[in-house]
Amino acid sequence: MSTDAPEVAMSIASPMTAKIRIDKVVKGFPTQKGRLDVISGLDFEVRDGEFVAIVGPSGCGKTTLMNIIAGFLAPDAGNVLVDGKPRLEPDRNGVLITQQGSVFPWLTVKQNLLFGLPDEMPNREALADEYADLVGLEGFENNYPHELSGGMLKRAEIARALVVKPQILYMDEPFSALDALMSLRMQNELLRILAKEKHTVMLITHDVEEAIHLADRILVLSPRPARIQASFDVSLPHPRRVSSPEAQALRVSILRELGVELAV
Ligand SMILES: Nc1ncnc2c1ncn2[C@@H]1O[C@H](COP(=O)(O)OP(=O)(O)O)[C@@H](O)[C@H]1O
Ligand SMILES: [Mg+2]
Repeated sequence: MSTDAPEVAMSIASPMTAKIRIDKVVKGFPTQKGRLDVISGLDFEVRDGEFVAIVGPSGCGKTTLMNIIAGFLAPDAGNVLVDGKPRLEPDRNGVLITQQGSVFPWLTVKQNLLFGLPDEMPNREALADEYADLVGLEGFENNYPHELSGGMLKRAEIARALVVKPQILYMDEPFSALDALMSLRMQNELLRILAKEKHTVMLITHDVEEAIHLADRILVLSPRPARIQASFDVSLPHPRRVSSPEAQALRVSILRELGVELAV
């Protein structure tokens, strides 16, 4: 009997500590050739304040998974629990940032930031300005999206996501449309913001170095139907040097899981 005790304690404790719990999620799509199994029974948890990155081969179901977790798509079976409660639709506590971008092109930076804030909020103007400053867009509040560079547009998007103070930030390949240099800048920017504000973050990326630079934990998904093939804790202190031997060893291991052998 006593040998069972730790397991019982864990199963009681785990719903309390998990911010997000993915519980036996299954998803497929009908196609002309029959059903396409995309996710077949996925289980994992994300702790409050944790930064989890997900990498996996193209087409394995990452975006599908993210849309399910953020509440935009219903699973065929299984549950997504946020704070222990089933997540059935998107809500204010979680914001999704995608590669395609999500600012309104007909609104200025400031108007985009104000959009998510209730009209009756007394300090909404000041808050919008504060978040424009936070991402380095001071002086561009009255510019329209088409007047911004790719990097500035990404910052506007991040500011728009953060201004509503979401508990969870869902990011699906957020920087992959940027050039390598701008992507690195945005990663640093994100780390700077996360050091100031506490968020739970889920990031989907195909960039293994980006995952190592940012995440506390990296999950590697298998080819479709997606399952968790491997999990890596990244216990390197920030600021991280992605060129360090430890980070490079991790990169080699993750790439190996993805079927890429690097000469070392
Ligand atoms: N709405 C849909 N209808 C049919 N098939 C879809 C739909 N959404 C995604 N798929 C298919 O599911 C698979 C996984 O897609 P996706 O989640 O976008 O992969 P990833 O983001 O890992 O590249 C792909 O084969 C894709 O064609
Ligand atoms: Mg995708």
